[in-house]
Amino acid sequence: MPNTLTISINMITIEAIRQPISADLKAFDEFVNENFSAEGELLQEMLTYALSSRGKGVRPILTMLSALTLKPDSPNPDERHCSKRTYLAALLIEMIHTASLIHDDVLDSADERRGRPSINAKWQSDMAVILGDYILARTMAIGMTSAQYDLMSYIGSAMATLCEGEVLQTQHANLFDTTREDYFEIIYRKTASLLGVSSALGALSVGASREDIDRMRKFGEALGMAFQIQDDILDYNRQNNTGKPTNNDLREHKITLPMIEVMERKNEAERGAMIELLKRCHIDENALDELHAMVVEGGGLEYATETMQAYLARAMHLLAKYEETPYRQALLDMCRFVAERDK
Ligand code: FPP
Ligand code: MG
Repeated sequence: MPNTLTISINMITIEAIRQPISADLKAFDEFVNENFSAEGELLQEMLTYALSSRGKGVRPILTMLSALTLKPDSPNPDERHCSKRTYLAALLIEMIHTASLIHDDVLDSADERRGRPSINAKWQSDMAVILGDYILARTMAIGMTSAQYDLMSYIGSAMATLCEGEVLQTQHANLFDTTREDYFEIIYRKTASLLGVSSALGALSVGASREDIDRMRKFGEALGMAFQIQDDILDYNRQNNTGKPTNNDLREHKITLPMIEVMERKNEAERGAMIELLKRCHIDENALDELHAMVVEGGGLEYATETMQAYLARAMHLLAKYEETPYRQALLDMCRFVAERDK
């Protein structure tokens, strides 16, 4: 039945979002550890390192909450638990995400990930490429062995979409020519698509209707667009505590929404001057500071925040038709968390 969407006024934490599925998340961690071990001491050491800092776990949380929001035949909606099929869906997604970040750090020559040395910084890029491939290969093997072919077809497409996003991003970063349309295409492919699949697979894993699977996919995608825009805003925040160096994007020649918003309000000569600064950001701290100030003083962060909030409003609206349960509430809280997060 349609009902009101309740929003509390306190800051939301990831712990509060995890709370209704805390037992499932614990069981999920065990499921991951049971399924992921490697032959060979060095490979096992690298794998343990990679899996010991999996971040906030936004994607598995999304899969589980989407599953429990839609789970049929549960007499008490406050005491639903995930099935093995939901854990498997969450595992497949979490592992392609983990592998993609390992490869991304190689492509970006990033020394840090989540406040620790990246795999490539610790073991060199060649080892990081192999570890990412190994995680992908094991993920595919786990999915195929468990004969979850419907889940696997989503996973295969999601992997291809991530690669397309990465190529598009690199192509435009090299040419310094990212437009607003390119930006939305890039963030859809590199981030929103996987969050959409995370949510859709949660729904699929409980036998939801085609309509509900599609709705949850759209929910995850809108949340994902907002998540990436916020990430790009945080990159400009000098006091950020994201565990990543500040101004990474400008150093990597990435034009993101805050800069696009400001550029669109400038004349052609001013836009050209901004691009000239961007070209020097990887070697020239003064150029970096100047461009950073132009984006911040031009209101780029505020404009980008408005767009992010519009995506979140769309995401929240998509959940309005579902029963009011702690799981749906936690999904709504995730929307708030994306807007409020500072890391
Ligand atoms: C992080 O973006 C990167 C991604 C979200 C996707 C990376 C995808 C690939 C490297 C393609 C390979 C795909 C697979 C399946 C192995 P970012 O660099 O903007 O974020 P960051 O600041 O966290 O590094
Ligand atoms: Mg990166």
